[in-house]
Amino acid sequence: MAKVRVALAGVGNVASSIVQGVFYYKDAPEDSKVPGLMHVKFGPYHVGDIEFVAAFDVDERKIGKDLSEAIFSPPNCVPKFAEVPKLGVEVQKGPVLDGVAPHMRDFRYGEGFRVDDDRPSVDVADVLKEAGADVLVNLVPVGSYQASRAYAEAALEAKVGFVNGIPEFIVSDPDWGARFEAAGVPAAGDDFKSQLGATILHRTIAKLAVDRGLKVRETYQLNVGGNMDFLNMVEEERLKTKRISKTEAVTSLIPYKVGVRIGPSDYVPFLGDRKVMYVWLVAEQFGGFPVYIDVKLSVMDSPNAAGVAIDAIRAVKLAKDRGLAGPLVEVSSYFFKHPPRQFPDDEARRLVEDFISGGK
Ligand SMILES: NC(=O)c1ccc[n+]([C@@H]2O[C@H](COP(=O)([O-])OP(=O)(O)OC[C@H]3O[C@@H](n4cnc5c(N)ncnc54)[C@H](O)[C@@H]3O)[C@@H](O)[C@H]2O)c1
Repeated sequence: MAKVRVALAGVGNVASSIVQGVFYYKDAPEDSKVPGLMHVKFGPYHVGDIEFVAAFDVDERKIGKDLSEAIFSPPNCVPKFAEVPKLGVEVQKGPVLDGVAPHMRDFRYGEGFRVDDDRPSVDVADVLKEAGADVLVNLVPVGSYQASRAYAEAALEAKVGFVNGIPEFIVSDPDWGARFEAAGVPAAGDDFKSQLGATILHRTIAKLAVDRGLKVRETYQLNVGGNMDFLNMVEEERLKTKRISKTEAVTSLIPYKVGVRIGPSDYVPFLGDRKVMYVWLVAEQFGGFPVYIDVKLSVMDSPNAAGVAIDAIRAVKLAKDRGLAGPLVEVSSYFFKHPPRQFPDDEARRLVEDFISGGK
């Protein structure tokens, strides 16, 4: 049976949820419905066909450990929901570059990353080649401009498919897209659109208002959480691209200018991996009267992205099998907030179904 050989860059909560998710659902019947996966069997690949072959991090509490142990090492805080056997994959030190913000290094807010400054980093492309990886998933912190591009370069060099889970505009950037195409490497991104998260809910509300002929005036989306992703984004300069990615995901559905404020809003340590989101929208109805929509959503943050990640990984592997190269436009539009091209979600889903069944 063919496998999907996966390498992970960043062994944080999302990586933990991906690895745990594969073991949680590895024996799911092919015709069953798993919440958060498009299909238990995506093309020829069952969720249990995913194998982890390499992992990179920079935190001394994770480097040198087996991946099955590192996913439960602090500061990770997603609860354990699956038994993960020893995987025989040692977490290796990746290039630090700008992956760790100053406020995450000096523990000024209580938690942070403990960078292993003593060990040299490995050559990521060499490790990918040796491990025979099919797909590399970028899961480093928001604001990692250089680190994300270093992993993308390594994927190009090793001819390994690339899934960009974070809001660094690589797959959606025409120059990078052309490089992936020229190298014969498929890629999907950027920035996972979670199963039922703030983005998809906000998009649905905005689209409903537009479709019903309301005139949207103003809308905001505030998000709080207690994991390292939220702590990293406490500093505004770290989250520029996250704001753009989250904002465009909503405003792309409203065909005129509105007052808008969308983004991560605060770190609340005792929430752990729980994320709470508030969406507010005001629109004008017939007669000029205001309509107010005020919604609160609370989810486990990283499992919310992990099912989407598992589908995107299998889509990239499928594209690789079929000799496709460059940005996967339809796949990126369905699974990511900032794709090369935005489609409405129902259309994007249909296009991905076509892709699975052998279309583009
Ligand atoms: N629902 C979601 O959780 C969701 C949705 C969309 C996107 N994302 C994005 O996915 C990424 C991962 O999220 P997370 O919750 O796992 O974050 P996290 O902070 O728990 O994990 C990030 C990991 O990357 C490591 N790291 C830092 N610099 C590195 C480098 N240069 N090389 C390798 N590893 C490095 C850290 O030590 C840490 O283990 C974030 O950018 C996040 O914004 C998450």
